Amino acid sequence: MSITDTTHRVSKPESVVSKPGATSADKARNGKILEKLEDDVMAVNQLRGNIKRTLSSCSLEDELAKANEGDEKEKDWYEESEQYKDIDPKSFRQYELACDRVKQFYEEQHEKQTVAYNIQARINFKTKTRARMSIWEGLERLNKLLDDSDPDTELSQIEHALQTAEAIRKDKKPRWFQLVGLIHDLGKLLYFFDSKGQWDVVGDTFPVGCKFSKKIIFPESFKTNPDFLNPLYNTKYGIYSKYCGLDKVMLSWGHDEYMYHIAKGSSTLPPEALAMIRYHSFYPWHQEYAYSYLMNEHDKEMLKAVKTFNTYDLYSKSDQHYNVEELKPYYLELIDEFFPDKIIDF
Ligand SMILES: [Fe+2]
Ligand SMILES: [Fe+2]
Repeated sequence: MSITDTTHRVSKPESVVSKPGATSADKARNGKILEKLEDDVMAVNQLRGNIKRTLSSCSLEDELAKANEGDEKEKDWYEESEQYKDIDPKSFRQYELACDRVKQFYEEQHEKQTVAYNIQARINFKTKTRARMSIWEGLERLNKLLDDSDPDTELSQIEHALQTAEAIRKDKKPRWFQLVGLIHDLGKLLYFFDSKGQWDVVGDTFPVGCKFSKKIIFPESFKTNPDFLNPLYNTKYGIYSKYCGLDKVMLSWGHDEYMYHIAKGSSTLPPEALAMIRYHSFYPWHQEYAYSYLMNEHDKEMLKAVKTFNTYDLYSKSDQHYNVEELKPYYLELIDEFFPDKIIDF
């Protein structure tokens, strides 16, 4: 975890997109900056998770647990992992060290994730194919970016993917769940495609088109977002309606939303898996229970799934290195099981 590393500062307006004339060294450097930032954002979320775990369980969690009682099938895979029961909470001091870089990132993200940008991002997504390759090739491509930039990189994308998937597999969770572990961050391929900066690839996500919740990290930085003062968007429900369901709500564009659309269109993964991919960075919702007034009954079920996945995403990062080539046949088979077409339109 690079939480104390201050050597890779994020320069605010700099785009990480492969601009015309950008060299492979530029791309690699930009990828490394993004990865450092993502590590910091994850570290902050890990600390938030740790703190929440040690303070108390919330009433909605209790409610959800009760709702789950008596359902043996669900208990199996919603059951809390034994692997992470004894995690020690980190101190606030480390959180503060991470703050500068993370805060700078969120200032930009909160300013630029507008309704207009999000509509345009979705139009761009739907009107072209950025690349055609297999899921495994996608993972390797994402991984190569880091290998090019720094041979001593601490944790590559494929390692995080395998650590997450292996932790889920170790707990004997369903195969579709294991596959989510493997591909949940594959949407970071946006690094290579249409992204305008870090702010539309990584970081916590949140709804646009309605009032920004105070439960979003650094909520004060939304004041520079043009939607903040727009009367169409700055009310509790904004362009949405009570209990309309999160599927009708536009979440800030990034790797989660992008990969959700790819997986939805190309795989046979169940709704729980798609929700895990789509909402894994929606921390204000799955950790703070913000926007519950936009949820429908289906979302309550999906919340359990996303929370179950979040533990593995946050806590599986370790020094344990897996042999990619050894694990590859298992995961190729797993990919084939849920992605009937070998070549995917990204
Ligand atoms: Fe992610
Ligand atoms: Fe992740």
